[in-house]
Amino acid sequence: MRKPVVLITGAAGEIGHGLIHRLSGEGVHSIITLDLKPLDETLGAHVERQFTGSILDRNLLDRILSEYEVDMVFHLAAILSTRGEFTPLTAHEVNVEGTLNLLAFAQSQGESHGRPVRFLYPSSIAAYGLPDLGTKHRAGRVREHEWNQPITMYGCNKLYCEQLGRYYSRHYKQLAAGDLAGRVDFRAIRFPGLISAVTVPSGGTSDYAPEMIHSAARGEPYACFVRPDTRIPFMAMPDAVDALLRLARAPREALSRVVYNITAFNPSAEEVRRLVLEAFPGAGITFEPDLKRQAIVDSWPEDVDDSTAREDWGLAPVYDLESAFHDYLIPRIRERYHA
Ligand code: SER
Repeated sequence: MRKPVVLITGAAGEIGHGLIHRLSGEGVHSIITLDLKPLDETLGAHVERQFTGSILDRNLLDRILSEYEVDMVFHLAAILSTRGEFTPLTAHEVNVEGTLNLLAFAQSQGESHGRPVRFLYPSSIAAYGLPDLGTKHRAGRVREHEWNQPITMYGCNKLYCEQLGRYYSRHYKQLAAGDLAGRVDFRAIRFPGLISAVTVPSGGTSDYAPEMIHSAARGEPYACFVRPDTRIPFMAMPDAVDALLRLARAPREALSRVVYNITAFNPSAEEVRRLVLEAFPGAGITFEPDLKRQAIVDSWPEDVDDSTAREDWGLAPVYDLESAFHDYLIPRIRERYHA
């Protein structure tokens, strides 16, 4: 008998970290993970088994398939938007071929144990691409189908993988005898920038907000790489993890879409700076825009319309901008750095 488990790829990353803690807090320990690097010790203690390796290694995926019955996949492994622009081909390989491998893996699982495999996919505001700042301001809160012209390799990868997921869910091998579609129950969230008190991101372009906060707490100066008026949506990590689990647990028939926007607040970089300074008055935060990274953030919407997520599966972030800082980020970050 194979053992029923949840699989988390990219488990050592920021979302994986939050997700594993939340699941283990709920008493869910039947978790297996796949990441290039081992989990840190505290995190590792909460999972049943760690596989250290690549999502591009199909032999490794076959081994997992032979040992475990996976009912749910959180496919979090990816190369983010800034890093992806330095190595676009590798980004494509990891983000697209890696996701395809996981979709094929989930399809095989579904065919072998006979239950649909819920496949949770973190897409991103990077799937949007607005052509200029004027259009960005006029567009305001964008809907899922609008402005789908991403300017980064990462954004292109995310947008395409949303489509691949829809294909597996609804149309997979549509000309074959028998009905093979629906073994993968694919569900995606377009995450805004995420801010965690316990981990720092790496390789993303929304990283200026978390970097500003963590640097201030460490007592280090920070040169923000975007202009003060830069505005995109953000969310505190506990709310992001909560959203992922709400969508994962929603009944299939409640879902009217494959891909959902979510957001919680959308401060300008200057507003983030002001809140950081309230907590750490001596923080040396300056603005030194990197015009190329700025252009990427300027192509992302200043706000997204997440009403369908709220209606279909009860998206309900707890933290707005003020409470994210006062009740979550600042106290937890102080604890972390003894600041
Ligand atoms: N936070 C991500 C990035 O900046 C967007 O999904 O790349």
